[in-house]
Amino acid sequence: MAFVLAVTGSAVGLGNLWKFPYTTGQYGGGAFVLVYLGCVILIGMPVMMSEILIGRRGRRNPVATMALLGAEEGKSTNWSWLGAIGVIAGVLILSYYSVYGGYTVAYIVKILSGVFSNAKATDVIAVRDAFEGSWVSVGLFHTIFMGLSIFVVARGVEGGLERANKFMVPTLFLLLIILLGYSMNTGHFAEGLAFMFTPDFSKLTWEAVLAAMGQAFFSLSIGMGAVMAYGAYLPEETSITTSAAAVAVADTTIAITAGMVIFPLVFANGLDIGAGPSLLFITLPLAFGQMTGGTIFGALFFVLLSFAAWTSAISLLESAVAWVVEKYKRSRAEAATLIGVTCWAIGLGTVLSFNVLKDFRFLRGTIYDNIDFLTINVMLPLGGLFIAIFAGWVMSRNSTAEELGGAGTSYRLWRLLVRFAAPTGILFIFLKAIGLLKLS
Ligand code: PFF
Repeated sequence: MAFVLAVTGSAVGLGNLWKFPYTTGQYGGGAFVLVYLGCVILIGMPVMMSEILIGRRGRRNPVATMALLGAEEGKSTNWSWLGAIGVIAGVLILSYYSVYGGYTVAYIVKILSGVFSNAKATDVIAVRDAFEGSWVSVGLFHTIFMGLSIFVVARGVEGGLERANKFMVPTLFLLLIILLGYSMNTGHFAEGLAFMFTPDFSKLTWEAVLAAMGQAFFSLSIGMGAVMAYGAYLPEETSITTSAAAVAVADTTIAITAGMVIFPLVFANGLDIGAGPSLLFITLPLAFGQMTGGTIFGALFFVLLSFAAWTSAISLLESAVAWVVEKYKRSRAEAATLIGVTCWAIGLGTVLSFNVLKDFRFLRGTIYDNIDFLTINVMLPLGGLFIAIFAGWVMSRNSTAEELGGAGTSYRLWRLLVRFAAPTGILFIFLKAIGLLKLS
């Protein structure tokens, strides 16, 4: 149970409430959602199970675990590079994750100040523009958020936070359900649902398919060794299959519910569905502003979202910190500060992407667009590909069967997916999308 809570704490975060709705909005809805769900089940689940079993067998940080298991199977210890790439992916993801974590903290303050009371769409957008346009404001909250994350990891008190998740994730879900009730009354609920659940495959590009797959990895926290690092603490007797399924169901339910809340609000207020990363920060404040008790309710919602983002940020830091502590014999405090400050500095690129450097564009767009694309659409899928290859082809049948509890039907299904479906699926989607992608 503690393990499921910890991994759920990592999985449920900005990916569900912030990124899933805005990416779904950008890629046209229904078909994107369907591909996302397919990726969670056919690729995400088997890869998550692989990460957990690798982590539990290695019982070290991801870099050392990959080297150890490579040797145990009589293969190369060079598999450690896979752990290393995961560590780098974590650092890059955290760089912008912290910026948006900072947004959620900033919005607690904004809601409490009452700026959104009875606000119109144009007012809410003006507040967003003023905040986003000021690199000092965005940078300040990025600094606060990163500081809090470093603090927890340095002190090694994640345990307390993970236990707090037991209350926070369900409460966040409850608030989402209440918001869902509000969305149902906007008069545009059916429109929102139709957008999300009516697939139009003629509009689906390979780029969208890749983005849906990347989103599945990101949302489940897989492809970079974070779940592997948690797996190192999993007791022998716990079922990996059941744990992974519980996490995937909780994570997916929250993402889908967030979409069902946000899209009707978009249609009801005539907003731009492709607004991008700030979609959440336009739609929800608008709704809270119109609700009775919206100030308190909205502040509570953003407090919980900040906590959810915080627990995810901590797991993003954790694998890099574990690696520096074990390899370079540093204290947790030193390692957390070193890595955290590095993430913070890289994050300044994202802070500036919406103001001072918004016209500085290359390859995929702004600095944020590039780091986002590189991590979510390249590093995580490729990380997942190699994790699947490792668990399916490098590790022996005996080793994996031992971890997954024998050779029953679910084991055979997992092995089939991890050996064939996941690697070919990931590679096919990746190559198709990259081949057709115009990078500038
Ligand atoms: N899964 C988190 C979210 O959806 O917000 C993001 C994340 C956390 C990704 C930890 C990767 C990770 F290792």
